[in-house]
Amino acid sequence: MAARSTSAKKVRTLYACSECGAQSPRWAGRCTGCGDWNTLVEEVGGGGGDEAPAPLAPSKRSGPARIGDVRTDTARPVPTGIDELDRVLGGGLVAGSVTLLGGEPGIGKSTLLLQLLAHRTGTTLYVSAEESARQVRLRAERLDAIRPELWLHAETSLPHVIRAIEETRPELVVIDSIQTMVDPDLSSAPGSVAQVRGCAHRLVNEAKEREVAVVLVGHVTKDGNLAGPRVLEHVVDTVLQFEGERHHALRLLRAVKHRFGPTNELGLFEMVGAGLVAVPDPSTMFLADRRTGIPGSAVVPTIEGRRPIVVELQALTTPGVPNVPSRRSAQGIDGGRLSMLMAVLGRRGGLPIGDQDVYASAAGGAKLAEPGLDLGICLAVASAMSDVPLPADLAVFGEVGLGGEVRQVGHAPRRVTEAARLGFGRMIVPASSPDVDESDDGRMHLVRVSTLAEALRAAGVVGRGAVPERA
Ligand code: TYD
Ligand code: MG
Repeated sequence: MAARSTSAKKVRTLYACSECGAQSPRWAGRCTGCGDWNTLVEEVGGGGGDEAPAPLAPSKRSGPARIGDVRTDTARPVPTGIDELDRVLGGGLVAGSVTLLGGEPGIGKSTLLLQLLAHRTGTTLYVSAEESARQVRLRAERLDAIRPELWLHAETSLPHVIRAIEETRPELVVIDSIQTMVDPDLSSAPGSVAQVRGCAHRLVNEAKEREVAVVLVGHVTKDGNLAGPRVLEHVVDTVLQFEGERHHALRLLRAVKHRFGPTNELGLFEMVGAGLVAVPDPSTMFLADRRTGIPGSAVVPTIEGRRPIVVELQALTTPGVPNVPSRRSAQGIDGGRLSMLMAVLGRRGGLPIGDQDVYASAAGGAKLAEPGLDLGICLAVASAMSDVPLPADLAVFGEVGLGGEVRQVGHAPRRVTEAARLGFGRMIVPASSPDVDESDDGRMHLVRVSTLAEALRAAGVVGRGAVPERA
């Protein structure tokens, strides 16, 4: 017994990766766990067994039961009252679940969660570990979030927070943020991996024990990862990502992990003076500033989850610098995909794109990654390069393969219907698209193509001097 306590007191220096949490007895420039550089930080007093999070409390936990006898009434999502959030969560927040909301500083996490608490009926608790109670109250006033069942606790110490949960018995707790929570029982410095992980574990236990829904705010690093606690992603039930351009009002909410539903739905908000408001008709918003008759623009009905959204893709090409590899710059779309499509456009589409610098973006701050965009990207670039605008009433979608073939993508009928709703009259679609209705009222004219070269001809943007391959 005595020997055990001396060894427990011995201070070991440990280093932990602030990205993946992997521990190492020695400092190194590169983490052996995730391979990231410069992420190892000293854990004061060493982590090890002493600081391992307490195991799940055995109380209230029953033994095995027949799956049909397990009670599910508390495991159903409760609507939050914010439709865009409910859409992403597949209905709402589940009692006893823990959700991590990640996003860059200033993106609107605190605003979103205060609005969530304001809409929710029943007792709720907002733990502010970053801002003072006064600051939060002033913000809540602006957001019209002052209501008697909303409790506020400006506190960084975890035991105090847990006591507050015991006292106020809320149905929903928001911890803003998990990186600023401190558990004095752990000897590591505030913000260290051990602290973040330890605090999160205790809060997860608390959520499960009391069947209270907990939302943790997590800051992300510059490359978009949740700072420190990638380990946290395994602990929580749901990971939400809140993103957008700093200087754009548009905010996108996505689920990266969700134990209670699908992860592909997109929530769209706009940041205005009175907080975040839902974007009810994103297609109209994304096309609001579109100017027709300009080369390098293509309109694509893309799919986010089950929702079709019509977006404008823009491209610009300029002659590259001799003897310097040409640039492929992508904004809002995948850079690797753009490079691949440019190679296909050159080899299979016959466009002399190799020595051109190519800039491509999704207009309006959208961030998209979906194969249905491929054909739109290719046509926008071909239009930019040939200086021929695409017809104003033309929309396109389809995946482009390495062989220059145009492939079918999901939800073709929804895409066509959405484009028709917005007044587009012509569409270039993959030849193999399943019986896409020529729109309900027959006003949509569909051009089916099976190769990129065919699509270029159909759009009338075969590059100057290009020799398109025969279809
Ligand atoms: P905030 O929720 O504090 O971001 P986070 O918690 O992710 O760091 O949002 C801060 C930004 O939002 C700030 O730049 C001001 C802006 N904002 C508005 O435009 N309108 C509002 O009603 C509020 C509350 C904030
Ligand atoms: Mg905040």
